Amino acid sequence: MSQVLKKLTVQVLKNKNVDNIFGGLAVRAGSTWWNNVEMGPPDVILGITEAYKRDDNPNKVNLGVGAYRDDEGKPFVLPSVRKAEEIIYNKCLNHEYAPIGGEATFTDAVAKLAFGEDCPIFQEKSNCTVQTLSGTGALRLGFEFIMKHYAKNKEVWMPNPTWGNHPQICNMLNIPHKKYRYYDAKTHGFDLNGALEDICKIPEGSIILLHACAHNPTGVDPRPADWEQLSQVIKQRKLFPFFDMAYQGFATGSVDNDAFAVRKFVKDGHQVTLAQSFAKNMGLYGERAGALTLLCGDAESAAKVMSQVKIMIRTMYSNPPLHGARIVQEILNNAELKQMWLCDVKLMADRIISMRKQLREGIEKSGNPHRWEHITDQIGMFCYTGLKPEQVERLTKDFHIYLTKDGRISVAGVSSKNVQYVAEAIHKVTA
Ligand SMILES: Cc1ncc(COP(=O)(O)O)c(C=O)c1O
Repeated sequence: MSQVLKKLTVQVLKNKNVDNIFGGLAVRAGSTWWNNVEMGPPDVILGITEAYKRDDNPNKVNLGVGAYRDDEGKPFVLPSVRKAEEIIYNKCLNHEYAPIGGEATFTDAVAKLAFGEDCPIFQEKSNCTVQTLSGTGALRLGFEFIMKHYAKNKEVWMPNPTWGNHPQICNMLNIPHKKYRYYDAKTHGFDLNGALEDICKIPEGSIILLHACAHNPTGVDPRPADWEQLSQVIKQRKLFPFFDMAYQGFATGSVDNDAFAVRKFVKDGHQVTLAQSFAKNMGLYGERAGALTLLCGDAESAAKVMSQVKIMIRTMYSNPPLHGARIVQEILNNAELKQMWLCDVKLMADRIISMRKQLREGIEKSGNPHRWEHITDQIGMFCYTGLKPEQVERLTKDFHIYLTKDGRISVAGVSSKNVQYVAEAIHKVTA
C-alpha cells in the first residue's frame, strides 16, 4: 500500500468522518450522488391505469387510457400490420443501423401521407423529413431544433387546453410557453372568436402549436372554414406554425380528410413544421415510429437543415429504431396493404363514432336534464364530457369508472358491453 493510502486509511478509521477526507463527496451509508433530487409527481394517466388495475370490482371501466381498444376492451393489432410483419419476416432482413434520419423509403412515404402525393414540396425537394421516436420524439426534436436554429427566446403558444406533454417538453427545454383560447366550456366546442382574438395579439415570429386533427384532450377540432380564418390570422401575425398530427385518420376515418389543415396551411404558403406519429393510426404504440418534417422553402435550405437535424439526432440517440418504421413503410409503399390499412383505420374510427352515439343516446334516454350533443360533435379518441372534478370522483368511487379529473374520457375505452353502464353512471352523477 502506498504511504498516502496508508495515511488516509488510518485517518478514516480514526474519525470515521469520510466527508471531511473526500472534500464533502458522499460516501456515507444511505447517502448518494442524488441527495438533492426531489420526488417528481407521478404521470397522471399512468396513475389512473395503476388505480384501475388495483380495483377488483367486476364492473370497472378504464376511460383514462390513450390507446385504442377493440369492442372486447383488448389492445388491437391491425390486420394490415400483422400482414406487413409477415412480409418483413420473410425478407430475412438484417439488423444493421438505420441511417441517422431514417430510411428514405420511410420518410418519403410518411411525408406524402401527410402533405399529399401531389404537394409541390416533393418536386422542389424543399422538405426535410426525418424518422423520429414517435410523435413525442418529433416534438422534442422539433422544438429543440427550432430553438437552436430559428430563435432562442421565442415564445411557444399552445391551445388551452393541450396535451400535457406539450408544456412539459417546453419546460424541459426552458422554452417560454403561453396559451391561446381554444375550448369553450359553455358550448363544449371550439372558441373560434377567442382563439382569433388571442392569436391576433401573439408577438410576431412566435411559434404556434396546432393539433392537426382529433385534438387531445378535448376532441374539438376547428371546422374547415375556421381553419381558413386561422390560417389568415397566423399569416398576418407572421407566426411559425408547428402542427402536431398524432391521429391522422382517427378523427374522420379518412387520412386525407384529417390532413386537411396541414395541407391547407401549405397551400396558403405557410412554412410549417410537422410532428407525425404512427402510434394510434397503425397501433404501433411501443414501436416508436414517427417523423418530423420541416418545410424549408427550397432544396438548398432543406439540405442545410437536414445536415443540422442529423447532427442533433446523432448526439441524442445516433439513429432511430428499425422495426416500426419497416412496418410503416411496408404498408404505405404497397398498394394492396395500404388499402387494407385504410380500412383498418376506418374500422377504428367508426367504432369510436358508434360508441359516441350509443353513449349519448344512453345518457339522454335516462332522462338526464343536460345537453349531450357534444359527445357526438367532438371527434377522435377523446371526449371532453364537461364533468366536474367532484362528479369524476363519484364516477370512480361509486361506479369504478376511471378517467382524468378534467372530465376527459377515452371513447376507445367504451364498448358495447359497458356503454349502458357508463351512460347510467354519468346520468347518476350529473342529474
Ligand atoms: C396530441 C398528441 N401529440 C403527440 C402524441 C405522441 O404520441 P407518441 O409519442 O406515442 O407517438 C400524443 C399521444 O398521446 C398526443 O395525444
